[in-house]
Amino acid sequence: MSLDIAALRGQFPILSQSVRGKPLVYLDNGATTQKPEAVIQAIDAYYRECNSNVHRGAHYLSDEATARFENARQSVADFINASREEIIWTRGTTESINLVASCYGASLKAGDEVVISTLEHHSNIVPWQMACERSGAILKVIPLQADGSLDLAAYRALLNERTRIVAVTQVSNALGTVNPVTEMIRDAKAVGAVTLLDGAQAVSHFGVDVRALDCDFYAFSGHKLFGPTGIGVLYGRKALLEAMPPWLGGGEMIETVSFERSTWNRLPYKFEAGTPNIAGAVGLGAAIDWLQAQDRTALAAHEAALLRDATTRAEAFAGMRLIGTAPGKVAVMSFLLDGAHPHDVGQLLDQQGVAVRTGHHCTMPLMDCLGIPGTVRASFSIYNDSSDIERLFTALEKVKSFL
Ligand SMILES: Cc1ncc(COP(=O)(O)O)c(C=O)c1O
Repeated sequence: MSLDIAALRGQFPILSQSVRGKPLVYLDNGATTQKPEAVIQAIDAYYRECNSNVHRGAHYLSDEATARFENARQSVADFINASREEIIWTRGTTESINLVASCYGASLKAGDEVVISTLEHHSNIVPWQMACERSGAILKVIPLQADGSLDLAAYRALLNERTRIVAVTQVSNALGTVNPVTEMIRDAKAVGAVTLLDGAQAVSHFGVDVRALDCDFYAFSGHKLFGPTGIGVLYGRKALLEAMPPWLGGGEMIETVSFERSTWNRLPYKFEAGTPNIAGAVGLGAAIDWLQAQDRTALAAHEAALLRDATTRAEAFAGMRLIGTAPGKVAVMSFLLDGAHPHDVGQLLDQQGVAVRTGHHCTMPLMDCLGIPGTVRASFSIYNDSSDIERLFTALEKVKSFL
């Protein structure tokens, strides 16, 4: 299958518009990706054809809504090689991690240890801080090396018989570093720790197989995977999910309720209290089906080529400093321009129609560790092409002349 990026890009209606009088160059894919027609149409069709509540089964619309909702769950399960009952719908990565920190975290005791890394997004820091505060467990942090990769020797030295949970990101949103998670999970298991991977930035760049990874929990968001906002996924190993107490209480998550006591529904519904985001799930299922129909190997090679091109140009660009240069990273280019605040650079790029993200990227401890207030981040996706890189660097030349 040969790649036709122009045709692929044509499936994303938002990308053909002009902003501030210039054709849009969208390089903020780490924050959220754009949505193809297939996803927009699936959500539209859900509301036009079968909007109804799910699992109530009393009429045609409900049956149809339930079928689309549960088919989407099956798409997610197939996408990461899990079984249906191990796929829990959440609002996103943040909620998925909070669920684990609350429910699995309920078994933490004083003196237990939870290991995270310097690269974590706030959503894989704060829930663990809260769980540690509740239980008296201790939070340990894997240090960083100069190129933005984790110090694996230091990681191994942190692990011991008190380590209960290792929760790390598979891909850094701020730097693009891809962590050697297979190895890290193996080391965590050797001391009996449970593992959680934050897959928010991984799933749009390469295939994920939770069985091959052998992780216990895996979290990701629909909106960073060409799907809608407000929907996400928690994968959990069945035996762990069964042993965990439920999270939110209410409808759907129960089997029986009396005023004396309630009993819990089977997986995955035990963790899905209340009416779910049905249209969101349908949209995410459509996004995954759409992505699975693409040549993902070729798309990954395309993204790698974009990063190589952008990096070569960055290295030749006077006054530009790349932040995070770990080998094998995904197509995320974080940088600083000498003497310029990232926010000013971002604003001047926006005036030229180039959308990037600036600031701490919800990784304040990482920025502290790097000794910088933030970065400018250009994050690429499958629909970006070399003309976007050209426009970025032309715009950066202008920024330099302004500042
Ligand atoms: C690595 C990482 N983890 C977690 C999150 C949180 O995702 P969400 O806001 O969709 O819950 C993000 C979002 O930027 C992220 O990049």
